[in-house]
Amino acid sequence: MDVRVAAAGAADRAWLRALWRAAWGGERMEAGDRSLHVDDLAAVMAWRAGARVGAATFLTEGPVCELVSLDALTPRQGIGTALLAAVEVAAREAGCRRVELTTTNDKLDALRFYQRRGYRIAAVSFGAVDAARIRKPAIPAVGEYGIALHDELRLVKELATA
Ligand SMILES: CC(C)(COP(=O)(O)OP(=O)(O)OC[C@H]1O[C@@H](n2cnc3c(N)ncnc32)[C@H](O)[C@@H]1OP(=O)(O)O)[C@@H](O)C(=O)NCCC(=O)NCCS
Repeated sequence: MDVRVAAAGAADRAWLRALWRAAWGGERMEAGDRSLHVDDLAAVMAWRAGARVGAATFLTEGPVCELVSLDALTPRQGIGTALLAAVEVAAREAGCRRVELTTTNDKLDALRFYQRRGYRIAAVSFGAVDAARIRKPAIPAVGEYGIALHDELRLVKELATA
C-alpha cells in the first residue's frame, strides 16, 4: 500500500501532539538555545490506507530548513523516505538552500538513513544531551541499542538548485 504525504492541517494537530509526547517525551523540543513547541512548526503527515503512519516537523528560516522531527510509526516501509522528500520539496519552495537537523549519538538507524539520503555530519556537540537533560529531565540516560545518550550530531544536506 502506497504512502501518501500531505501538509498537516488543523485536524492533525492533536495527533501530532500525542506523537511527540510518546516519541519525544513532550510537546516541546530543545533546539540549541531554543525550545520549540510542536504547534508552532510546519508539518507533513504520512498516510496509508486512511490512517496516519508518520509525520515530520520543520521550520524554514531564510536559507535554512530545520528538520525538527521525523517519525515513521512502522520502520522500513518507505514512510521516512516519503516524509523526508516532502520536507525537502517544501524547503525548496520556501527558498531554502539546505536542510539541517540535530540527532543524537544513539540513533544509529537515523544516522544511516540520513547519510544514505545525502546528509553529512557537520558537527558533533560533545555532552550536549547531558546539558539538555539538566533543563529537561525527561531525556533518558540510555537511548537506542542500549547506548548511553550524551552527544548531539548536526547533519546538513545542501539542496540541489534546479
Ligand atoms: C529514522 C526513520 C525516520 C526512518 O524511517 P523509515 O520509515 O524506517 O525509512 P524508510 O522505510 O523510508 O527507509 C529505511 C530503509 O528501509 C528500506 N525500505 C523501504 N521500504 C521497504 C520495504 N517495503 N521493504 C524493505 N525495505 C524497505 C528503504 O529502502 C531504506 O533503506 P536504504 O536506506 O538502504 O534505502 C525511522 O526509523 C524512525 O522513525 N525512527 C525513530 C525516530 C527517529 O529516530 N527519527 C529521526 C531522529 S532525527
